[in-house]
Amino acid sequence: MRIVLIGPPGAGKGTQAKRLVNDLQIPHLSTGEMLRAGCETGTELGILAAQYIDRGQLAPDELVVGIVDQRLQEPDCENGYLLDGFPRTVPQADALDELLQKRNTKLDLVLELNVTENELIERLLQRKRPDDTRETIAERLQVYQKQTKPLLEYYTDRGLLATIVGEGTPEEVYERLREATGQHSDTV
Ligand code: AP5
Ligand code: MG
Repeated sequence: MRIVLIGPPGAGKGTQAKRLVNDLQIPHLSTGEMLRAGCETGTELGILAAQYIDRGQLAPDELVVGIVDQRLQEPDCENGYLLDGFPRTVPQADALDELLQKRNTKLDLVLELNVTENELIERLLQRKRPDDTRETIAERLQVYQKQTKPLLEYYTDRGLLATIVGEGTPEEVYERLREATGQHSDTV
């Protein structure tokens, strides 16, 4: 399956992606993690990306699309993947469409994790990643509203969007995601 996971900062994309990829046996492609890895190894792209991450702003579309394009060329992506945090802008979604077409493939599903803003702020302040300061969280939330939310309509129009309530325990959220991906747990 080719899945996109969309949600505001702190919605639980990373938490849930880890479980989903384990069940579906597909790779987890988080652009946030890729960019942070670049920052740590001090590559030129990483140093550039760090400037955006630290401010809570999005890295340039071309940079992120380039990274995803390269990653999709790896053999483990042949049978599907879960994109976490990409696309995040309409130009990125258009670019993803081109990357998919180039490979004669299509997305199967776009999953939105929906969580109220107060809960997001509380979760992120507890997590304490370097970009989890009050100021940066506020900026990231605003960026989500302005630049990423339009993708919900974009994928609704394509009949791909499923919205999942992202509150409750991680297990409860996961069960909803499994249902949306057409899998059913026999343990619950
Ligand atoms: P990225 O790393 O993608 O961060 P984000 O979207 O801000 O989201 P987070 O990773 O903070 O949250 P999450 O939804 O993964 O939640 P998590 O599972 O960690 O991006 C970081 C930066 O990179 C961006 O700001 C941008 O600069 C750049 N970037 C990345 N992609 C880009 C792109 N495509 N284009 C341009 N720039 C890009 O959970 C959060 C916390 O909540 C954890 O502590 C977790 O334990 C807890 N939690 C999870 N689920 C629950 C639950 N059900 N109940 C209680 N707590 C929970
Ligand atoms: Mg994440």
